[in-house]
Amino acid sequence: MRSDAYYQYRGGHLYCEQVALADIARRAGTPCYVYSAAAIVDRFAAYDRAMAGVPHTICYAVKANSNLSVLRLLAEAGAGFDIVSAGELFRVVKAGGDPGKTVFSGVGKRADEIEYALEQGVHAFNCESADEMRLIDAVAARLRRPARVAFRVNPDIDAQTHKYISTGLRENKFGVNIADAPALYREAQRYENLRVTGVSCHIGSNLLKVEPMLEAVDKVLALVDELRSGGLAISELDLGGGLGVAYRDDEREPEIESTIAALCARASGRGLTLHVEPGRSIVAAAGVLLTRVLYRKSNGDKQFVVVDAAMTELIRPALYEAWHDIEPLRLIPERGNVVADVVGPVCESGDFLAKDRSLANVAPGDHLAVLTAGAYGFVQSCNYNSRPRPAEVLVEGHRWREVRARETFEDLIRGE
Ligand code: LLP
Repeated sequence: MRSDAYYQYRGGHLYCEQVALADIARRAGTPCYVYSAAAIVDRFAAYDRAMAGVPHTICYAVKANSNLSVLRLLAEAGAGFDIVSAGELFRVVKAGGDPGKTVFSGVGKRADEIEYALEQGVHAFNCESADEMRLIDAVAARLRRPARVAFRVNPDIDAQTHKYISTGLRENKFGVNIADAPALYREAQRYENLRVTGVSCHIGSNLLKVEPMLEAVDKVLALVDELRSGGLAISELDLGGGLGVAYRDDEREPEIESTIAALCARASGRGLTLHVEPGRSIVAAAGVLLTRVLYRKSNGDKQFVVVDAAMTELIRPALYEAWHDIEPLRLIPERGNVVADVVGPVCESGDFLAKDRSLANVAPGDHLAVLTAGAYGFVQSCNYNSRPRPAEVLVEGHRWREVRARETFEDLIRGE
C-alpha cells in the first residue's frame, strides 16, 4: 500500500496517526469513516504556503466532506468556504466558520437561499446565469443589502476527467459561456444592488493534468483584462477547485504546493485577490472507510468478499467506476491474496466497492480499510435499504473521538 505520514502499518497493524484502526473498528463498529486531522490541516497548509505571496482566501469546498468537526479544523486553520446550498452555509456557521470568507457557488440557487446567504453576510455569489443575476439583485434590494457577485465563466476546456465531474465544457450545465460574459458584466453594472467585482471558474474535479488548469487561468485572465479595459473594476479572481488525487499506484497526482504556486504566478502582478475552492485534495487521502468481512462466497469461478459497507456508504465505485485501494487492518502474509469482487449487502448488482480486485485473502470477521475515502464519501451516503448511515471518527495524534454518531433505527423514521 502507498503509505504516507498519516496511514502506516506498524507491526502488521494499520494505524491512522498514532491510533490502531482495529481499535476504532472494534469500539465504534463498522462501517465507519475515519479522518486524520493532521492530514487535513497539513494539506490546507500546503495551499496556504503556495499562495503566501498574493492576497488570497482558500475557500474549502464543503461538499467534499461537511462534517462539523472537519469544518471547524479548517476554520481554525484560517479557511474560508465554498458552499453550494443554504444547508452547507448553516454547517459553516455552526462550525464557527466565517460567512465573510465564504463564496456561494452552484447553478440553481433558490431565492430563500440567496436571502439566507445575504443575511449571514457571505462574501460573494458565484453567479451562473442572467436569470440568477436578476434574482440576486431583487433579493438584495428587498433586504437592502448589496450583493457582491462574480460570474462563473465556462471556458470550454476539456479537463480530461470522468464525464460526470467535468464541468468546463460548453455542453456542461455550469457557468456562463465565456464569450457571452462581457455583455453580462455590462448588464450587471446597471443593477443597483449588485457589486460585480470578480470572475470565477471551475473546470472539473479530480484533475490529474495541470495543463487544462493553466489554460483555464489564461483564458480567464484575458477576460479580466478585457473587462478592466472596458471600465469594470475587477478585483477578485476565483480559480475554483479540482486538484486530483492518486487513487491508485499508477496515477500521479499534481503536487499541491507547486501546482497552486504555478497557477498563482500566472495570475499575480495584476492586483487581484485570489480565491481557490479545493475539496478533494484536502480531505480525500485523509479518510478511510472501515468495514468488516461478513462472508466469502464463490459463484462458479468468481470469488466474492461480502462486507458490511456498501454503495450506500461509498457510491464512488458504482457512480464513477472509481477505484479505491482496499487493505486489511491486520497483515497476515502467509494467507496470500485472492482475486475477488468486494461487494456490500445492498440489493443491486451495482453495489460493489471493487471488481476483480487482487486483495488480501481475508476471512469473515477480518477488517478492511477502503482508502482515499475522505472526500465525497460520507457526504454522498444514503439510507437506501433502510441502512443507518455510518459513524464518523476524527483522529488527532494518540486520541480519537466520534464526530458523528452512527444513525439509529429511530433516525431512519424521523419525520415519517
Ligand atoms: N468548486 C466548485 C464550483 C465545484 O463544483 C467543486 C466540485 C469544487 C469547487 C471542489 O472540487 P474538488 O477540489 O473537490 O475537485 N462527487 C464527485 C466529485 C464532484 C465534484 C463537484 N464539484 C466525486 O466523488 O468524484
